[in-house]
Amino acid sequence: DGDAVATLRTPIVAVLGHVDHGKTTLLDRIRGSTVTDGEAGAITQHIGATAVPLETVSELAGSLVDPTDFDLPGLLFIDTPGHHSFSTLRSRGGALADIAVLVVDVNDGFQPQTIEAIDILQRTETPFVVAANKIDTVPGWNPQGDVPIQESYDAQSDRARETLDERLYELIGELADHDFSADMYWRVQNFANNVGVVPTSAETGEGVPDVLTVLMGLSQRYLKDAMAIDVEGPGAGTVLEVKDQKGFGTAIDVVLYDGTVRADDTVVVGSTGEPIVTDVRALLQPRPLAEIRTEKRFEQVDAVSAAAGLKIAAPDLDDAMAGAPVRVVRDRSREEVVQEVQEE
Ligand code: GTP
Ligand code: MG
Repeated sequence: DGDAVATLRTPIVAVLGHVDHGKTTLLDRIRGSTVTDGEAGAITQHIGATAVPLETVSELAGSLVDPTDFDLPGLLFIDTPGHHSFSTLRSRGGALADIAVLVVDVNDGFQPQTIEAIDILQRTETPFVVAANKIDTVPGWNPQGDVPIQESYDAQSDRARETLDERLYELIGELADHDFSADMYWRVQNFANNVGVVPTSAETGEGVPDVLTVLMGLSQRYLKDAMAIDVEGPGAGTVLEVKDQKGFGTAIDVVLYDGTVRADDTVVVGSTGEPIVTDVRALLQPRPLAEIRTEKRFEQVDAVSAAAGLKIAAPDLDDAMAGAPVRVVRDRSREEVVQEVQEE
């Protein structure tokens, strides 16, 4: 209808890959955080969500990104577990994604959950970039910090460069074995048909500017039309976790991928039994760059628009189910929305 407000929504970027290949560390590098340090055995056990504003993306990408080239608001990163037992969470993360980063330890190469992640990306037709991570562990590597990869590459010995090249070409071969035509990202002309490989070190920072640049480029070129939505419309999202929130009772962590949730909305939430119909008590939003999974401080807000991670506190959420849909009722009939949730 003519009144719909088309605004570009934040693209959702899933970070997928085998256990320990460096997904959370990569996000820590982008956030300037230390979430990995707080994880038992550095094993991620839940899906996370972090909003990274365009300002931060362009700061980190430095000379590689001109923020005036982009009119997307930023990126919403979804962290996923790589441990084999969490395949449901990986599929859920993949299903939410508009685009993805596949993190592969450049020394370890393709591993079982790398292949599982590739299958998810193939099935959901999600465009992705490969972060060939841990390049700092290549013998003789001389770390250069948060610089574009080309700059670091030029500063390495011939020997270190050759070793890295060999490993990168093995990776490109493995991608080809899984039907993905891939190349070093600076050689890729058309990201719609080719997968770009970006050498990175989440530990020392090299190549991280390049990953962000490729993600912004991918979003701007291939997602812009899909991101032009009526962000004022009734919100739709997925439950990540059901948790007690001090002072608010039971709350659900949600990734909102469409529309808006307001503090006076009625929502329908999928549960172990019949869908729950309840009135929002409070909307709690993590600050930019905070990981919703580990953050303790939240801001109480009147409304949240997609894409975003947020907590919804409301009565009767005890039986809400991780992975279930969340829908705002707004001016639709309750029965219609309940049916929609049941059918998903
Ligand atoms: P799961 O969430 O359990 O799947 O693991 P993950 O992919 O999130 O890996 P995580 O970021 O927890 O990193 C695993 C270990 O590898 C940690 O000890 C990190 O410090 C280390 N690590 C991650 N990236 C790098 C890197 O680029 N270089 C080096 N040397 N170590 C890294
Ligand atoms: Mg992790």
